[in-house]
Amino acid sequence: MSNFSKVIGSFRNKVIRSLKNGGFISLYRQLKVFFLIKTSKKTEFHFVQDYQKRVKNLIRSYPIDEAMSLAVGGNYFEIGNIEKDILLQYGLKPNMSIVDYGCGSGRLAHALPIEYNINYIGIDILDELINYAKTKSPANYKFIKHRKLSVPLNSESADMICAFSVFTHLLHEESYIYIEDMKRVLKKGGKLVFSFCEFGLPEHWPVFLSTVDNQRIGILPDLNTFIEKSVIKIWAERLEFKLLEMVDGNNKKFNGKCLGQSLAILEKPE
Ligand SMILES: C[S@@+](CC[C@H](N)C(=O)[O-])C[C@H]1O[C@@H](n2cnc3c(N)ncnc32)[C@H](O)[C@@H]1O
Repeated sequence: MSNFSKVIGSFRNKVIRSLKNGGFISLYRQLKVFFLIKTSKKTEFHFVQDYQKRVKNLIRSYPIDEAMSLAVGGNYFEIGNIEKDILLQYGLKPNMSIVDYGCGSGRLAHALPIEYNINYIGIDILDELINYAKTKSPANYKFIKHRKLSVPLNSESADMICAFSVFTHLLHEESYIYIEDMKRVLKKGGKLVFSFCEFGLPEHWPVFLSTVDNQRIGILPDLNTFIEKSVIKIWAERLEFKLLEMVDGNNKKFNGKCLGQSLAILEKPE
């Protein structure tokens, strides 16, 4: 359905609902709000503004390799290797097609085994990160800059999708929309692996506290969103994903090391 017919459809539904519920005055008010929203200028999503600011400041303050590592959370080589080991553990095989959503500066792309001949697509919102990631990856890896709430790929085209430390910076509603579209892009039996922070784990509490401290002293903090396991369970049910496993960040070791963030592994049913 085109955007125009979506707008017309939603307009018609609003008119019918308002007339049913509150008569002409309610209809008038609802229409005013509807047109104000539709005609107001769209700004960038908060995540573009947040990351743009952060990455610009890092590039200004640090040598490029350090800036590019800090931009994705630091420990470039160590965390990249853990992410790779996680994917191997959950089924990454030679010649598979994998989508690295929020690929950043290429921490994972750099660590993937070249001999696996992976059909890799990294997606991110910032040119600076993507351009650096390209310099750290095999020439056949593809990168896409994308700033919308969707996955810009064909349906049933990926064996695996991962999103490491991405939903930690998004609103629940945004993550839900991405997960829904990731299901469309996954092949049947394909897996989605994503990391998250949760209140239930004492190790994640300092992340929350530091955001609280920033808020307290009036620094507008970057979004550090927590997702509880109970929420992921509900999302998986609603989106008809099979929830294969959820892993506490500091419990399970991959090749002897923990990621720190917790993990959810979902499968698109056959
Ligand atoms: C903490 S970094 C993690 C990067 C990478 N996944 C890794 O583990 O090295 C988060 C990344 O998500 C990207 N990002 C944030 N919001 C996004 C969105 N809505 N769509 C795609 N990428 C996004 C950021 O630009 C950043 O590169």
